[in-house]
Amino acid sequence: MLERTGAAGQKPLRVVVMVSGGGTNLQAIIDSVKDGTITNTKIVGVISNNKNAYALKRAEENGIPSMCVSPKEFETRDIFNEKLLEAVDSYEPDLVVLAGFLVVIPPEMIKKYENRMINIHPSLIPSFCGKGYYGLKVHEAALARGVKVVGATVHFVDEGTDTGPIILQKAVEVQQEDTPEVLQHRVMEQAEWKILPRAIDLIANGKVQVADHKTTILP
Ligand code: GAR
Repeated sequence: MLERTGAAGQKPLRVVVMVSGGGTNLQAIIDSVKDGTITNTKIVGVISNNKNAYALKRAEENGIPSMCVSPKEFETRDIFNEKLLEAVDSYEPDLVVLAGFLVVIPPEMIKKYENRMINIHPSLIPSFCGKGYYGLKVHEAALARGVKVVGATVHFVDEGTDTGPIILQKAVEVQQEDTPEVLQHRVMEQAEWKILPRAIDLIANGKVQVADHKTTILP
């Protein structure tokens, strides 16, 4: 577990954010560091698997170093996995944040960053999560099932898909006339862009403990 006391004057938490697309969660993290909602934290790098991700533009506009590591550039998945881990390690992060990173995380990386890697998932885990549930598909499934409450979850990453210890969750109401796109945007605005920065701030200040596959948030 990442030991942090939250004492004044301690070194900022070095965060690497991994992205695949638009990067609105990355933007929420950037804005929260700027406006002081997230404290004791420095975003030291952004890694994308997709060179056209708008998230890379957000990194550039904010003077954050970034790189693209795409599976397409490597002959085998093993080589890609190795290069991805090398890229992450090169930033010497204390915390890795998966903010809409839609690539399966290599097992070596999960092991190395145990309790130091978090993910934002756009549902209230354990609903609508696991293999095949990502991005808009999550909201399509929620509307198809007719649930009245959805939400988002921030959790540590373990070897399963969306199975790691839950850090924060926030519920959002479904409206009668919702489309998957409208619902996705409401979940981002009301839940994801709030709980992801909040989780980073809690970790940066030593407020998250993990034991027995559960977290405790310290006062
Ligand atoms: C977000 O809704 C995030 O929760 C989701 O992808 C979107 C990325 O948006 N992640 C997953 O579905 C992971 N299973 P963004 O690029 O605008 O932050």
